[in-house]
Amino acid sequence: MPERGDWFLYEIAGESVIIVRDGEGGINALLNVCRHRGSRICDVPAGHDTRFTCPYHGWSYGLDGALKGAARMEPGFDRAAHGLRRLRVRVLEGLVFVNFDVAAPDFGEFERAMAPALAPYGLAKTRVAHRQNYPIASNWKLAVENYCECYHCQPAHPEYSVGHGRALPDAECVTMLAEVMARAPAVGLTQNSIRRSWLRAPAFGLEHGFDRYPLLRGQETGSRDGKPVAPLLGSIRGYDGGATDLQLGALTFALAYCDHVVLYRFAPRGLNLTDCEVIWLVREDAVEGRDYRLADLTWLWDVTTIADKRIIERNQAGVDSRFYQPGPLSAVMETFTRDFADWVVETLRSATGGGLPDRRPLASIGKAAGGKT
Ligand code: FES
Ligand SMILES: [Fe+2]
Repeated sequence: MPERGDWFLYEIAGESVIIVRDGEGGINALLNVCRHRGSRICDVPAGHDTRFTCPYHGWSYGLDGALKGAARMEPGFDRAAHGLRRLRVRVLEGLVFVNFDVAAPDFGEFERAMAPALAPYGLAKTRVAHRQNYPIASNWKLAVENYCECYHCQPAHPEYSVGHGRALPDAECVTMLAEVMARAPAVGLTQNSIRRSWLRAPAFGLEHGFDRYPLLRGQETGSRDGKPVAPLLGSIRGYDGGATDLQLGALTFALAYCDHVVLYRFAPRGLNLTDCEVIWLVREDAVEGRDYRLADLTWLWDVTTIADKRIIERNQAGVDSRFYQPGPLSAVMETFTRDFADWVVETLRSATGGGLPDRRPLASIGKAAGGKT
């Protein structure tokens, strides 16, 4: 969104938000719901405008959401009280963070923790080389649970597992990670880990984390042969043999290599439909064909995300059975998924004033759902 008036829609859980660049470089997030009788105002994915005009009765709004025009309203009508609803918005390293909560918590802790970790990658000076949505026919929680563990990586992702230490138990990577971290300062990467995700986050929407892991077989990046696929990012000066997992809020994750970043954005679209948008970022001055080839850049996470879509949808089909009973999680490979599940339960509990039942013993769940066990 380089120019004033550039905008795009972001849609999540039945809501639609206009993200627009205003004057002086500011970015506004406006609820895409007319203050007259509630029509959606914009209905194409992106555009460039100086005003937003509602197609229903023609009310028009400025880039800051202020109501500018409302024909034939009676004298005394208070335009100032009928601007578009503005959501909380913050920009960090070129990433736009929006929170629907009018009492949204202070973004400061997130920013202070993550800014140094993000800094070497120079995300504000990257550009989108490619973006693709992989709609998943599942509830969003199954999609996020799957993202939270790499227990499934060896069976489901041979292309990833051959080169990424995350597919192994952490205990098997200790020495390799120490070697990566010893090399890291020489290439301008030093941060190791921050974990303020799920219940450790200061508030809903501020889940964040950052941790590094080793690449295997001498790989320098995530690619078919492990060789670089784009120019080095930001202030990074070489390859230390590591990759970085990031969590950027409740539903957004990223994997940062020295030469490109893969952003993962989950958006619930319905009870059993979740968008999984994958965005490949490269240095802003990288030119396709000269500095990178799109097919090489996107190969690994395209093939991996297609496999994830398949396994998550298969998971949904299985848990839809009235006879399904949750089984035990691996204490070695699924602790992050357990944290996520606990967070979901606690978030629902606090949103309902504690009105959720305590976790039932596993054996009773099938009975409650009408099963025979
Ligand atoms: S609903 Fe938008 S102008 Fe009437
Ligand atoms: Fe996966």
